Amino acid sequence: MSDRPRMILDCDPGVDDAMAIIAAARFADLVGITTVAGNVELEHTTANACRMRELLGLDVEVHAGADGPLVGVQEFAHEVHGATGLGDLVLPDPARGPDSDGAVEWLVEATRAEEGIHLVPVGPLTNVALALRADPGLADRVASVTIMGGSAVGVGNVTAAAEFNVYADPEAADEVFRSGAPLTMMGLNLTHQVRMGSAHGAVCGALGTPVGDAMAQLLEFYTVFHLAEEEVVDGPVHDPCAVLAVTHPELFEFGMRPVHVEVDGAHTRGMTVVDERGPRAEGPANCRVAYRADAEAAIDLVMQAVREA
Ligand code: RIB
Ligand code: CA
Repeated sequence: MSDRPRMILDCDPGVDDAMAIIAAARFADLVGITTVAGNVELEHTTANACRMRELLGLDVEVHAGADGPLVGVQEFAHEVHGATGLGDLVLPDPARGPDSDGAVEWLVEATRAEEGIHLVPVGPLTNVALALRADPGLADRVASVTIMGGSAVGVGNVTAAAEFNVYADPEAADEVFRSGAPLTMMGLNLTHQVRMGSAHGAVCGALGTPVGDAMAQLLEFYTVFHLAEEEVVDGPVHDPCAVLAVTHPELFEFGMRPVHVEVDGAHTRGMTVVDERGPRAEGPANCRVAYRADAEAAIDLVMQAVREA
């Protein structure tokens, strides 16, 4: 029996989602992968999850989920992840396609069949919200819902106040944050501490392996965007942080906080409002918020996952 934590990765691959799949394959015991529209369209996020499954030689199910948010229309991030989601990386079309288009039903069934699974959403929270609607008891059966999303200090990326995953489906995020599930939030305040770029890509490329080559291309594309966007050479590797929060929690510092999702604000829709007022905070501390990362150790683990894939 593996001592690696049992994990379901819910994702929208996505350059950094692909990195999260590499990290999860190495350090977690992957129960399955579910996909959601987000960075790019659902057909691409799902095909990319299947491509990564084959690249890594994984025998796990991939289930496609929601193709848009609970309310409104999908915001995509083609400018960050490329037209089909993996930047310039071209992987063969997957021989094995998704195992179903019923990610929501599968999430309910898988967490009924086995308690203590870590559910790690690193895209919009639509699938997770719909699964909680279908079976609120899911919140009590999972070991954690460890989210890449939001931000602890009001730092946004898609707007001044909102992070993309929460902004893409604020209603879903609001339902998840009010569900009573054991939440951990790996927000932008944390993920911006963990940055990788061309230098890491060169090391990966020198491995001479298919996964090393893929990671090198993902990092090269990601670096070009962040150089233009932020004038920095290394880009934040958001999604692997959520995987590592489960597999290596000792690398992070957390605090329990009340966190609310803004769904109405003209300028703040999609913002995660973290109440830092201590004893005066309003409402239950519903979320374990990550504040600090041992970035060097986290990056070393991502590089190890690529090396040992
Ligand atoms: O804001 C960063 C998040 O949005 C990451 O999960 C990235 O993959 C995108 O989905
Ligand atoms: Ca993502």
